[in-house]
Amino acid sequence: MSGYEARFAVWRGDADGGGLEDFRVEVHEGEVVLDVVHRLQATQAPDLAVRWNCKAGKCGSCSAEINGRPRLMCMTRMSVFDREETVTVTPLRAFPVVRDLVTDVGFNYRKAREIPAFVPPAGLAPGEYRMMQRDVDRSQEFRKCIECFLCQDTCHVVRDHEENRTAFAGPRFLMRVAELDMHPLDAAGESGLDRRRTAQEEHGLGYCNITKCCTEVCPEGIRITDNALVPLKERAVDSKYDPLVWLGSRIRRRPSP
Ligand code: SF4
Ligand code: SF4
Ligand code: FES
Repeated sequence: MSGYEARFAVWRGDADGGGLEDFRVEVHEGEVVLDVVHRLQATQAPDLAVRWNCKAGKCGSCSAEINGRPRLMCMTRMSVFDREETVTVTPLRAFPVVRDLVTDVGFNYRKAREIPAFVPPAGLAPGEYRMMQRDVDRSQEFRKCIECFLCQDTCHVVRDHEENRTAFAGPRFLMRVAELDMHPLDAAGESGLDRRRTAQEEHGLGYCNITKCCTEVCPEGIRITDNALVPLKERAVDSKYDPLVWLGSRIRRRPSP
């Protein structure tokens, strides 16, 4: 692809409001949307606010909506667009705008803090842990997460319903609960923490209707719905309706004499 001039519409504004501003900007072969946004900053809009860091799809900071779809700007090649079309770049819709393309993603850090950490097994020191390879593989898939929050942005439960924010942790953090609940060494249950119950009652698992929109936008290709949310729902239902599981949980919760 030789150089050409692209049409860009970039959202400019702040918490008080704003709108799309049109630009014509040069594009070179092999460039991504973030390159073009940087050229805009360098040549036409020096005060354009944009967050980025690695330019390699690994820091998760350049998330935005490109032609309405949540994407990483640094991983979106200009060659996927027609030269004639206007490329629209807007901030993540589910989070409050700070300025231009920068949003306040603090919601996600608050949700992260609400999830109790891994509880190490009693009597085993780090280095003595032994796990089946398939359990390691599962955790590793979830840990590929770069915290770009594109899945959180696209999920309709909070994208279109401000009122659900308190009750719903979002796919990224329900995936974290699933990871810990399926972790063979997590000893949270021994201390009375029922991760499946908290998934339902505190993190809003029931709001998820497994539409897979979160999976579709994940730049790491994590199968959030199939490998985390659906198994977590199944486990939560099993715990609730299996009398043996219910009895076991009551016995475990009894205080020691
Ligand atoms: S699968 Fe669940 S968490 Fe993912 S986007 Fe759909 S409703 Fe949201
Ligand atoms: S799960 Fe995927 S889309 Fe969601 S924050 Fe992590 S890397 Fe981003
Ligand atoms: S700049 Fe790091 S993911 Fe895009």
